Parts: sequence; structure tokens; C-alpha cells
Amino acid sequence: MNFDDVSNYIQSLYKQKEVLTQKEYTSDMHVKEYIPTVDDESAAFLRLLIHLVKPKHILEIGTSVGFSTVSMALAAKPFGGKVTTIEFDETVAAQAQENFEKSGTADSITLLRGDTVEILQQLHGSYDIIFQDVDKRLYSLLLPSCLRLLASCGLLLSDDALFPILNLAKRWENQIAPVRSYNELLMRTPELESVLLPVGDGLMLSRKTEAA
Ligand SMILES: C[S@@+](CC[C@H](N)C(=O)[O-])C[C@H]1O[C@@H](n2cnc3c(N)ncnc32)[C@H](O)[C@@H]1O
Repeated sequence: MNFDDVSNYIQSLYKQKEVLTQKEYTSDMHVKEYIPTVDDESAAFLRLLIHLVKPKHILEIGTSVGFSTVSMALAAKPFGGKVTTIEFDETVAAQAQENFEKSGTADSITLLRGDTVEILQQLHGSYDIIFQDVDKRLYSLLLPSCLRLLASCGLLLSDDALFPILNLAKRWENQIAPVRSYNELLMRTPELESVLLPVGDGLMLSRKTEAA
């Protein structure tokens, strides 16, 4: 089975649906240089999960221009769910905020600007879903903060979990080993039960156990 064929076939099916696509979202932005966002398949999975779980509080680590943020906020809006998202690049953060306003989701999103390593240490509260999508070299370092901030039975979604087996461009090669270690760390973490889903570039879905 060819992974690219599988991915292309799945993407072609999503094109038939009337939803916000990554292409539409990014087409009229003035910022052209940004770290890639999730693809349409991952955005569809995040929306579906939000419809099922109905989280009141979602935390996203790594906003970029806000495609995943807006996708989640639109899904959470009908039941009053709010998204807090963290980004340290001022240029993309400004574009993301503009996109939140244009998409009518600004009142559901709080954008925290700064380094997530510092922000997470100071952040309090309890999140029903945490979407981890920052620099992959930070995933393991940030796991203790994610566990502290995750509600009992909450879900931690970690993007790009299949980096170790994808044919990545050279610029992403330094992210492969950190993802491999992080995947193994998640599997060893007693407070979490995890499954790696072949959605997008791989989505690790972890549930914080009731006892934790
Ligand atoms: C993969 S992108 C996020 C994509 C976004 N979640 C989406 O799918 O639309 C990762 C983002 O994390 C940001 N980032 C990287 N290191 C960071 C840090 N230490 N603190 C805050 N943001 C960081 C990058 O600037 C980049 O925009």
C-alpha cells in the first residue's frame, strides 16, 4: 500500500464536502511565509472529535496563521466552547488574529503571544482537549505541562506523529528524532492511553485516564 495514494484518495473525498478548506483559508492572506498548517483531513478529524466530545476549553500549542484554530473554534462555537492558542512569531500571530476576525470566530479564541515554554508554565485551568502542534523538538519538554493542564479524561492530540516514517523535506529532518522519542514517551506515560492514527501526517490521540 502506497501511503501517498491513500492520502490523495482520502483528500479527494473531503473536497466533496462544503467546509472551510486549508486552500480557501490561506488564499487571500498577505503573509505568505509560515510554518504549514494541518491538512483538510486533520482539520475534519479535529472538528468531528469536537462535535463528539463538546469540549468547553481547548488549548492549542502552535497557531501559525490559525487554520486549525478556526476549524476547532467553528466546531466548538454552537455549544460555547473556547479555544486558547499560543504563538511566538509576531507576523503570523497578527495574520492569525486578522483571520479570526474575518471568520467570525474572534470572540471564541484567545491568542497568547509569546514563547510557549514560558506561557505553559504560567498557565492555569483545565482543558478538555489540548492540540499539540508546535516545534516538534519541544513536544517532550512540554508534556508535563500538558498533563497538568489536561482535565481528567481529557484528550491530548499530538500532530505529525508519523514524521519518523514520512519522506520529509530536508528542513524538517531535525524534527524526526524528537517525534520518535515523544511517541515512545507517550506510550510509556502511565497517565495516558494513546493510539497513533494515520490522519494527515499522523495524529497521536491520548486520553488522560480517570485515576490520573
Ligand atoms: C505547525 S505550526 C502550527 C499550525 C497550526 N496549528 C495549524 O494547523 O493551522 C507551528 C507553529 O508553532 C510556532 N512555534 C514554534 N515554536 C514556538 C514556541 N516556542 N512558542 C510559541 N510558538 C512556537 C511556529 O512559529 C509555528 O507557527
